[in-house]
Amino acid sequence: MKNKIEQKLCKKCKLCIEVCPVNIIGFEEEKVFFIPEREAICLKCGQCMAICNTKAIKIENISYENQLFDLPENKILYNDLIGFLANRRSVRNFKDKPVAKEMLQKIIDSLAFAPFGSSPNKVNITVVNNRKIIESALPFISEFLDNIVKWIENPFMRFMIKFKKGMETYNTIKNHLYPIAKLGNYKLGYGDRITRNAPTILIFHANKGAEEHTNNSLIYATYAILAAHSLGLGASMIGLVPAGINKIQKVKHIFNIPDENEAIISVIIGYQKYKYKRAIKRDKENINWIE
Ligand SMILES: Cc1cc2nc3c(=O)[nH]c(=O)nc-3n(C[C@H](O)[C@H](O)[C@H](O)COP(=O)(O)O)c2cc1C
Repeated sequence: MKNKIEQKLCKKCKLCIEVCPVNIIGFEEEKVFFIPEREAICLKCGQCMAICNTKAIKIENISYENQLFDLPENKILYNDLIGFLANRRSVRNFKDKPVAKEMLQKIIDSLAFAPFGSSPNKVNITVVNNRKIIESALPFISEFLDNIVKWIENPFMRFMIKFKKGMETYNTIKNHLYPIAKLGNYKLGYGDRITRNAPTILIFHANKGAEEHTNNSLIYATYAILAAHSLGLGASMIGLVPAGINKIQKVKHIFNIPDENEAIISVIIGYQKYKYKRAIKRDKENINWIE
């Protein structure tokens, strides 16, 4: 057994039993204990350790010294949160100024507080903090995006995309990317409309079969854009780059993504060039209440 409850410290309040998401802690004969036949399903989320009054619980590879710390005060109430969210924009115009590694590290550090769909979180993050390397991938991604026009106009290729990638990807390409690409939008002659001259890009990727990696990547990317905003940086999710990585081996190699991995989402980061004067509130009509 790798998880432990220090019986001398345990006050038998059973809060750990209440919060465990997979019910691996039991109570019998006045003793709180890890149920041996359930212990293997431990998510290592640390919730039991976070709620224990006496630090009596020890989960394998998690320590009170390294992974847990005193609960910070929550200073963000709803109105502050809405203000923060409304203040953020997907930024596509950047100053010609690199981002210090310490700032990027802070963004990465924020991901440690993200929820995850399955444990361990198998998402990898590649931080490309080198504009020249980003630029070296652009001609390949641009050509790929240009090719989308030919593919969508060819009935056999349309069928193949539907068959191999499914309807969500097909509709995204046909209804979203194709009309944009048809106007030549992604041709480099117009400038970088893919990574928008950003000095830095984060790429979220994982083994193609890794549990929940799509959802976990998108959650990470969401945290990353919010953390960037809190640091006074501009950021935007970019789906075009992972599409290029997954389709073109050369791009995968440029960004050092392992062959067996697929990229899910990327986030461009840099110093925002322009300040927005207004916030945007989008009406959301497709909400169904069941009460
Ligand atoms: C999954 C996802 C992929 C995105 N991909 C791109 C992209 O490839 N290029 C881009 O310019 N913006 C991309 N965006 C940013 C959206 O276009 C942006 O959120 C939208 O324009 C709304 O702007 P706002 O974030 O400022 O509210 C993406 C956003 C999401 C959530």
